[in-house]
Amino acid sequence: MNAFAYRDGHYYAEDVAIQQIADAVGTPFYCYSRAVIEARYDAFADALRGFNALICYAVKANSNQALITLLAARGAGADVVSEGEMRRALAAGIPASKIVYSGVAKTVREIEFALQQDIRQFNVESEQELETISAAAVRLNRTARVAFRINPNVDAGTHEKISTGKSDNKFGIAIDTATAAYDKARKLPGVEVCGVDLHIGSQIMNLQPFAAAFTRIAELTQELKDAGHTISTIDLGGGLGINYDPQNDKAPSAADYARIASETVGHLNCDIIVEPGRSLVGNAGVLVSQVIYTKTNGTSKFLIVDAAMNDFLRPSMYNAYHSIVVGRQTDAEEELYDVVGPVCETADTFARKRQLPRQEAGDLVIIEGTGAYGSAMASTYNTRPLIPEVLVDGDEFRVIRRRPDYDSMIALDIPWDAAD
Ligand code: LLP
Repeated sequence: MNAFAYRDGHYYAEDVAIQQIADAVGTPFYCYSRAVIEARYDAFADALRGFNALICYAVKANSNQALITLLAARGAGADVVSEGEMRRALAAGIPASKIVYSGVAKTVREIEFALQQDIRQFNVESEQELETISAAAVRLNRTARVAFRINPNVDAGTHEKISTGKSDNKFGIAIDTATAAYDKARKLPGVEVCGVDLHIGSQIMNLQPFAAAFTRIAELTQELKDAGHTISTIDLGGGLGINYDPQNDKAPSAADYARIASETVGHLNCDIIVEPGRSLVGNAGVLVSQVIYTKTNGTSKFLIVDAAMNDFLRPSMYNAYHSIVVGRQTDAEEELYDVVGPVCETADTFARKRQLPRQEAGDLVIIEGTGAYGSAMASTYNTRPLIPEVLVDGDEFRVIRRRPDYDSMIALDIPWDAAD
């Protein structure tokens, strides 16, 4: 489903005109559709019906409390990578029994917090981390349920900065060292082996790497079971890609993904955890900005908008393509625009040579597919306040994160003479 579409030439989010929100909230802002998030979650849940499956939303994709709360109400668990994300998940009502803790280097403090909450599972990424978890569990008189994150050495075929399952990536333990690691875990106090885990990357548009990785994990699971380990859960990670270019992209569906999971690990009769982030929220959000100026330098025509790389980093960081549309359809002549923000770097470019009807200062320009890794990766570079987030539900909208004021931003810092 797509909740973002034109009605009588005006861009709408569900049943609310985006201009109406812009007038009320001011630009730039993120706008999310409740219906899309729920539909995406339900599609995953339906697709995995044949499994005893837990969908652990990867909170890093968008950690707004309103979104986590929506998903919690639908039955989602959470995949978290820090104490902060764990606290967000708990605050949103996700029970600890549905929280899995991933991440390449969990600190002692974070591990202790997770143990105190009695979370469902630690996805362990090194033998040192295992030892640290074991020692903390013994100290606190708790048991940590652990799965090793296995690095299956599979190329996910995605951008190199978001590929995680190759042997020279920092993630997980090499698949050929897994048996020794599990044997070690069996002997350590305070830890109980419960499963295996993997995550090979993000924005994966082809199911083949998933099939290859899941097959390797299935073989390993069988070997571990044969060696007497209790492997009751297989965590397949996240990574399912989405369509950023509505014309040309063809992302696999949750159903296709579930079919691959069923063919590769189905026979093992394990519980399944999946950790989708982007595929739940990516196409549920847009970034709404306003043109400040237009200008021409050399042969380039610039549309300078009030959103910038600090608000939305993906184009600068990964050269990511995002569809860009205008708030109001007109029959103005088409131009080839470079869409840029006001930040003092050439990297502050959302798109180059995009064909759009001629725009003027004050017109709305919308960057689509920004629900995942948009607000979550924002910064206050150039002392630009984090931008508001708005959730639309039918014909209603609510601000789900306020724009901070300048005084509170500046007050975080302490001039030397005022410091203790
Ligand atoms: N599980 C683990 C252990 C992960 O590291 C990630 C994402 C996920 C699940 C969720 O993956 P997803 O379903 O969203 O693909 N900032 C980058 C994406 C980084 C992904 C990092 N890990 C971007 O904007 O493309």
